[in-house]
Amino acid sequence: MKVLSVVSEVYPLIKTGGLADVAGALPSALAAEGVEVITLLPGYPAVMSAIDNVAPVYWMDELFGGPATILSAEAAGLQLFVIEAKHLYDRPGGPYVSPEGVDWPDNAFRFAALARVAAQIAYGEIAGFVPDVVHAHDWQAGLVPAFLRYDARRHAPSVLTVHNLAFQGQFPAGLLPALGLPPHAFSLDGVEYYGMIGFLKGGLAIADRVTTVSPTYASEIRSTEGGMGLSGLLTDRGTDLVGILNGIDDTVWNPQTDICLPQRFALNTRVKRKLNKAALQQRLGLDDAPDQLLYGVVSRLSWQKGLDLLVEALPHLIATGAQLALIGTGEDAIQQAFSVAAAEHPGRIGTFFGYDEDLAHLVQGAVDSLIVPSRFEPCGLTQLCALRYGALPLVARVGGLADTIIDANEMARAAGVGTGVQFAPVTVKALETGLERMAEIWRDQEAWGQLQKNAMRTDVSWRGPAKHYAALYRDIVSLRSGG
Ligand code: ADP
Ligand code: GLC
Repeated sequence: MKVLSVVSEVYPLIKTGGLADVAGALPSALAAEGVEVITLLPGYPAVMSAIDNVAPVYWMDELFGGPATILSAEAAGLQLFVIEAKHLYDRPGGPYVSPEGVDWPDNAFRFAALARVAAQIAYGEIAGFVPDVVHAHDWQAGLVPAFLRYDARRHAPSVLTVHNLAFQGQFPAGLLPALGLPPHAFSLDGVEYYGMIGFLKGGLAIADRVTTVSPTYASEIRSTEGGMGLSGLLTDRGTDLVGILNGIDDTVWNPQTDICLPQRFALNTRVKRKLNKAALQQRLGLDDAPDQLLYGVVSRLSWQKGLDLLVEALPHLIATGAQLALIGTGEDAIQQAFSVAAAEHPGRIGTFFGYDEDLAHLVQGAVDSLIVPSRFEPCGLTQLCALRYGALPLVARVGGLADTIIDANEMARAAGVGTGVQFAPVTVKALETGLERMAEIWRDQEAWGQLQKNAMRTDVSWRGPAKHYAALYRDIVSLRSGG
């Protein structure tokens, strides 16, 4: 089975969030299921400088305003096709935004190009790799199913995975011809979306199957509140829409071998975590307080992540005798609020504003509990890392957070299965109740130890999810071949 994965970011080459982690880790887990994956991604400068064994395999004179060469390449154990198209991707800044943080004005073309090239590969234009399935991720690859549908050439079936319905890629209707789509694509069952072109909407309507990254999110997005304008379409897709949980790369996230930790540890040596806790307290200017419950946050600072609720709950957190170590980057207002709180509570709240992978590992290996108070969360990866590192997650009961953390209520504890604490609804009051519950468990160190063991024993790898994806691929291939 051959799969072309089409995606706009891949860890460790280029990353703005969990999408990159997924795209970077899933291929090797799929290899164990007999699925060979090649990942197609844009040739941003960071990608061009990271790739090895580069060989040009396909040429296009015209790809939305300039020539393109498709390179076969390798990096970090991944098999890649990279689109070298200087007019689209050879720029400073992030994959989607300029150095000033503004969306590139030609993003419609930059990502239509990604989908266009994917379609060429699906038609068998690159000798030696004709995919059985094309797997597109998020709005940036959302036009893949559309390009395939509006072209008569024989091609593989498509799967679209939604990692976050909040980002939909909408562009003016007038771009339709320039994007290379026929007039009839602008329809209810095509790319039309409230008078605009919806990249994600088109993919959701047309792909043979749609997946999202947790079963609970799959049901939430079918509701008016969670559907972000797409609930009708998603409901109509019926059983074509499924939720498959994410995993994490358990070689990147392994507390026994993690070089970012001053002190590595395993389940039976987890008391050694206290050395990491001391190191983190020192690094972030927190009091050296081994017995205080230390919470952590590793997050984008955005409305989705609910961190403004945590800001409001901080007096409560402090009153329970706890500390907080937060690392994050994003909206100024949220950052500002945490800065003010840190100044008000010296030694009790420590912050780092920026993106730092090594520090993210230290937080996971040091804190007692990781807080994830998201308003919505398609899956979430930080709580999975926290489980593996023995930091009990305190999470909002939404999306993938609800599916991955077993609330340590009385029955769960009696059955010996809790791995964290959930709170609902997503309000300051409920979060405060969650903080109280966590503090109560902390006071009973024996109970805490049991939950930590449960957490660290949880299988958060890609092995299980990869089996689901492999089964899905086999399913649509056999349907297509009439099997
Ligand atoms: P999302 O993709 O919505 O941001 P996820 O939980 O799926 O949320 O993935 C976030 C990823 O980004 C995780 O790998 C997490 O460790 C990482 N991350 C988030 N913020 C930071 C940061 N400030 N520094 C380093 N890594 C971060
Ligand atoms: C998105 C979601 C996050 C998910 C990630 C990877 O960024 O916000 O919940 O874990 O994609 O699927």
